[in-house]
Amino acid sequence: MSWRIPLFKIFWDQEDVSSITESIKLGMYWTEGPNVENFEKKISEYIGTKYCVTFNSGTSALHTSLISYDIKKEDEVIVPSFTFIATANAPLFVGAKPVFADIEMDTFGLNPEDVNEKITNKTKAIIPVHYGGCPCNIKALREIAEDNKLILIEDAAEAFGAKIGKEKIGTFGNSSMFSFCQNKIITTGEGGAITTNSKDIYTKLKLIHSQGRAEIKDYFFSTNTADYVGLGYNFRMSNIIASLGLSQISKADKLIERRRNNSKYLNSKLKDRNIKFINPPKDYFNVYQLYSIRIDKALRNKLMDYLKRKGIMTKIYFFPVHKTHFYKNVLGYNCNLEVTETISEEIITLPMFPSLSKSQIDIISREIKNFFLEIE
Ligand SMILES: Cc1ncc(COP(=O)(O)O)c(C=O)c1O
Repeated sequence: MSWRIPLFKIFWDQEDVSSITESIKLGMYWTEGPNVENFEKKISEYIGTKYCVTFNSGTSALHTSLISYDIKKEDEVIVPSFTFIATANAPLFVGAKPVFADIEMDTFGLNPEDVNEKITNKTKAIIPVHYGGCPCNIKALREIAEDNKLILIEDAAEAFGAKIGKEKIGTFGNSSMFSFCQNKIITTGEGGAITTNSKDIYTKLKLIHSQGRAEIKDYFFSTNTADYVGLGYNFRMSNIIASLGLSQISKADKLIERRRNNSKYLNSKLKDRNIKFINPPKDYFNVYQLYSIRIDKALRNKLMDYLKRKGIMTKIYFFPVHKTHFYKNVLGYNCNLEVTETISEEIITLPMFPSLSKSQIDIISREIKNFFLEIE
């Protein structure tokens, strides 16, 4: 379906086209190559960590990070249910059990109190999510992780460039994951990364994401025989894709500024309606990968249908993971997550992207206003 206003639009420019064209024209280094290393360096510089490893998706990045911390069968990992399913699936990939904790009303991120209550002697890690680019209460969660000697892995898939004060999201956890899927802050189509300050974890990530192959510089051009020192996968990002990452990251701040300006304008247009907004503390720098509002649950689906008829795309981010067929019926989850369930019944994600124009925002807000007038 072609939308009058889509939910997201990829921002790309001539620099992206030139960058990827050049890497194709090289005629070599289509798999591993110097762009990958450069992109990893740029990401760690931008986020402020010592190390970064890129991946072919955020999901494979999360999977690899759980392996690198030796999380396995019998272990429990605390995750939100108000997230994309990959967050909860990651523990399952290594045979561990995802344990759902509830979220906070203000940030839609994990509630530290509920996380505390969900800790058992089997808990190994916590994976908080920074919802739609809004930081969660990561400082409190870090304290809980430290007090209980748990691994903290930030799922920052949606939060590239988000900050608390001057500290970037992606620097709080033992490791943090970013996604470069097409609707994210910067994108390579598919792609992901892990940032960390641990040399040990960095080394493990490098091995696991590339067949467990003991490092040979330029494997494809080397006559040396490789040795394999552990079980590994092919979760690598290609050199062609990394060239797109390099041109995208060079404009990250501009893309974030546009999202924030658009969100500010949309906030101002929707104010005074029967609408609730995400409401993080003042020093939380939201990068608005998603722009979500909450309205009365009895009206939510009606508003979505109304906007659909007007050609404006909306979506529910997120339906709780514990209520999906897989978790409920196949895995047998039956949880009581009050805030998660309330928010997911009220949430509606509106269009948000860097090139969203003022006139498009005017249309969105006018149609929402018309909807409320119509039902009065
Ligand atoms: C919160 C969250 N976690 C994990 C992922 C998985 O990332 P990817 O789609 O790059 O595998 C996503 C992406 O949609 C996400 O939004």
